[in-house]
Amino acid sequence: MTDQPAKILVIFGTRPEAIKLFTVVAALKQDPRFEPIVCVSAQHRAMLDQVLEIAGIVPDHDLDLMRPNQTLDGLTAALLTELGGVMDRVKPDRVIVQGDTATAMAGALAAYYRKLPVDHVEAGLRSGNIYHPWPEEVNRKIIGGIASLHFAPTTTSEAALLRENVSADRVHVTGNTVIDALHWVLGRIEAQPSLAGGLDELAERFKGKRIIGVTSHRRENFGHGMENIASAIRRIAERPDTAIIFPVHLNPNVRAVMNERLVGLDNVALIEPLDYPHFARLLSMAEIMLTDSGGVQEEAPALGKPVLVMRETTERPEGVVAGTARLVGTDSSRIVSEIFSLLDDKAAYEAMARAHNPFGDGQASRRIVDALAQEVWGA
Ligand code: UD1
Ligand code: UDP
Repeated sequence: MTDQPAKILVIFGTRPEAIKLFTVVAALKQDPRFEPIVCVSAQHRAMLDQVLEIAGIVPDHDLDLMRPNQTLDGLTAALLTELGGVMDRVKPDRVIVQGDTATAMAGALAAYYRKLPVDHVEAGLRSGNIYHPWPEEVNRKIIGGIASLHFAPTTTSEAALLRENVSADRVHVTGNTVIDALHWVLGRIEAQPSLAGGLDELAERFKGKRIIGVTSHRRENFGHGMENIASAIRRIAERPDTAIIFPVHLNPNVRAVMNERLVGLDNVALIEPLDYPHFARLLSMAEIMLTDSGGVQEEAPALGKPVLVMRETTERPEGVVAGTARLVGTDSSRIVSEIFSLLDDKAAYEAMARAHNPFGDGQASRRIVDALAQEVWGA
């Protein structure tokens, strides 16, 4: 034990990692026993910067690695070398990674190559299928094989780790930090509604209509899956009582399909990715969320919004078990019939529209810092 605060290198690169780590960085900053050092790979650029700005984080290291339409191997190779270089310069005591992205996996591996302990936020999510989600299921397993502390959001994810022979004393059930972030941002909007005022115009344009919020970006849905999703949205938009608000992910594989097939429809708003306050407002405005996102599957139940998940399997079964989420895959007829059933059958809607917090109570970041303090300082 030294008198110096423990140097914690917090690594992230994409929008969801930033959303799920900014409250952890804030909690570490408030604790004099820790010195958090933020390294962003910038695997995402614009979508990462949106989060850094609202969270007020200025990274200590910014690798600026995003390339247009980057490949998994090109990205991973660059990440491994560059993140390793930062570790050699910073010489942290521990490294934190979050979730399942290429940045998280390469960060964990580079730390392992230096025998640095890695702490994994959002540990233990498993679908049991290495191609759904792809490549995230394997990224998670690699990180799980390396991690020192595993911060499991739920007892379901804890159980998955124990089945893989992770020893119980290395796992802490903390809740998911996304709920901390959501509470924080909702508080910010309440205090200052203009933070999400950019949606006023759409709210006015779609007044009286039933709003469906859509997001989509999964690699395993590229091609046929994205085309099916676009066809489903066209059919839903034939109903004059509905409006679709779809902030389109910056991945060109998503944008090409959506721009080609959905532009020019009166009640479909294809918009740029929203910053977090605006997206939180969209979650509140929407009657239903239709998504293939991981984070949205966690946020929608917290707000009591039915969420239809355009995936074959999920590593987040808690929302499905709680009844707020339903897996609908990417078959367009199935998506349309599930949406229509929620729009037309009040009982079916109400059965799904109950606020649950299966993913946490908003205190995950504090629990993570407490567990780290116990690990590093024994208190
Ligand atoms: C990545 C993660 C995925 C996560 C998702 C969240 C991997 C392998 N994938 O997928 O797990 O669910 O982020 O959104 O780690 N782009 C921009 N600007 C941005 C962001 C992306 O132009 O701000 C474009 C670029 O052309 C980039 C492409 O999107 O090359 C793909 O980005 P990438 O991070 O490789 O994949 P995602 O599909 O975003
Ligand atoms: N999100 C956002 N703006 C958007 C769409 C999503 O801020 O336009 C947020 C959303 O609230 C959630 C996170 O981004 O917290 C999810 O990110 P994404 O769907 O890109 O990745 P995933 O969670 O699937 O890894």
